[in-house]
Amino acid sequence: MAVTLSVHDDPAGACAALLLEATADGGNVVLTGGSTPKPAYQEFVRRVDADGLDVAGTTVWFTDERAVPPEDERSNYGLIKETVIDPLGSGRAPQVRRIKGELGPVAAADDYESQLRQAGPPEFDLMLIGMGPDGHICSMFPDQDSLSERERLVVGVEQSGLDPLVPRITLTLPAIALARHVVFLITGAGKAAMVLTAFGPDARPNPHVPATEVPPVAANVTVLLDPASASEL
Ligand code: 6PG
Repeated sequence: MAVTLSVHDDPAGACAALLLEATADGGNVVLTGGSTPKPAYQEFVRRVDADGLDVAGTTVWFTDERAVPPEDERSNYGLIKETVIDPLGSGRAPQVRRIKGELGPVAAADDYESQLRQAGPPEFDLMLIGMGPDGHICSMFPDQDSLSERERLVVGVEQSGLDPLVPRITLTLPAIALARHVVFLITGAGKAAMVLTAFGPDARPNPHVPATEVPPVAANVTVLLDPASASEL
């Protein structure tokens, strides 16, 4: 486990650069939802276009999903469709393996577990993760049972800890352990206190702060921050 904290004026650009590297030769990447990664996905597509790159051989997986249909505005798949798939267009976009939120948390988790197992499960070249102000990652919220899962790669979560308050489907720590490189993208002063708790000098694995459970299972962790989110470090 190596954790690198990296502060950027343009963390979305730094994130897009890592995504470009990870997708250069196909492979498997895991993308996340929430509001923070949108500019990174947009910058990724801009650079794929500008440099005429071919990312169609890449497979995109998801860290988590809200138990809603894909066309719902809260869907994480919807974010990737809007920012990556539609702008690149069919034939140029990566293959997308979405979590079927419309099945509900239990059936959707079973379906995604099967998709992943049938695919290997793959070793992920890069897994992008966000962090909530409560320290949650993927859809594993503080002190929830999902954090003690040691067998399954995906579980259903009946109770979300934060908005949107819909059931969720989330990758687990054993799935995170399949990633060669875990990249956190965290921005904004509102997360500065949690960045200190989760990644500061006194950080220790603690299910009350889900992000602290990643370094012990991940081979290589990079935390991309902007100056505001790094301000308490
Ligand atoms: C989700 C996420 C979640 C997200 C964090 C940060 O579906 O909500 O995958 O884990 O990354 O909540 O979200 P923001 O980027 O919106 O702060």
